Amino acid sequence: MFIRRRRSWELPESAATPESIYLSRRHLLGAGVGLLAAAGVGAVAGIAPAQAAAPGDPANDPTNDLYPAKRNPAFTLDHPVTPEDISGNYNNFYEFGSERTNYQCTAAAARMPRRPWTVKIDGLVEQPREVGIDDIIRAMPLEERLYRHRCVEAWSMAVPWTGFPVRELVAWAKPLSGAKYVRLETFLNPKVAPAQNGFIYPWPYVDGLTMAEAANDLAFFVTGVYGKPAPNQFGAPLRLALPWKYGFKSVKSIVRISFTADRPIGLWEKVQGREYGFWANVNPEVPHPRWSQASERDIGTGERRPTLLYNGYAEQVAGLYADLKGEKLFM
Ligand code: MTE
Repeated sequence: MFIRRRRSWELPESAATPESIYLSRRHLLGAGVGLLAAAGVGAVAGIAPAQAAAPGDPANDPTNDLYPAKRNPAFTLDHPVTPEDISGNYNNFYEFGSERTNYQCTAAAARMPRRPWTVKIDGLVEQPREVGIDDIIRAMPLEERLYRHRCVEAWSMAVPWTGFPVRELVAWAKPLSGAKYVRLETFLNPKVAPAQNGFIYPWPYVDGLTMAEAANDLAFFVTGVYGKPAPNQFGAPLRLALPWKYGFKSVKSIVRISFTADRPIGLWEKVQGREYGFWANVNPEVPHPRWSQASERDIGTGERRPTLLYNGYAEQVAGLYADLKGEKLFM
């Protein structure tokens, strides 16, 4: 690996800032950003001050009328939903900075305009096209699901996502019979996302899944969270949620969905293929080189609990992998 710079998620657990401290730090920083904006100073090169970026405010989202969507009772949890002020300030969104405790990332992401936003659908499909995000969201059956959300860094949260099954969009896209994978790509716009000016990561963020995984009931495209359109740091206006896999598979702020015959190589796999693979299914018995996966820390309750195979979704997904002997299913 030629990446010498330590990524934020390489911090040992013991070195992570306690939430009480970073949350109060975030308060201070939030106030600072507000002051800078009030003074007309752009906080990040090339980005307008927060106050000028109303398009990034989910309160102005043109699909607001669709929320809250009806909760689907088939997707519930045995532990409490993580409060939004915790989950919404603990996001991995490297385009906006690599601080794991992301008071910085949340503020930077908030300046991203949410519209206009189009999604390209291409590759092995009957008819490649580019569609406005609102046309997609309004064509899909929105519902709310409570999902476990687990990062390879061994933290977890419980999130009330709103969205629609991936298979609905796949059916709408009309893939050809040769399509074996779905490749998802995040926007590329260094003016909006400052970290994309750097050369450390091979932007844009990319990852993917098989057509069989995409057809699974659990595979979900997210448009909202906590009963409203998703704030930017969660990956607005369209992100993936694959709750049986480590979170890095769940691509945020998607602008392109391609159907391919070849397995897509994700950003992390490209950066460090010995640590991050295509499958990335959760398994307590297969440690990451830098994190044991035996247990997870719930960032809402602080509770540590044993990791479950496929993050607790084995019944729904284990069958997908029954015939894949020799594949590294858990990295
Ligand atoms: N998607 C993009 N475009 N950029 C990212 O940095 N981080 C991934 C994933 N999707 C990431 C991304 C990682 S490492 C995780 S754990 C989850 O998003 C975090 O999702 P959350 O911030 O909603 O918890």
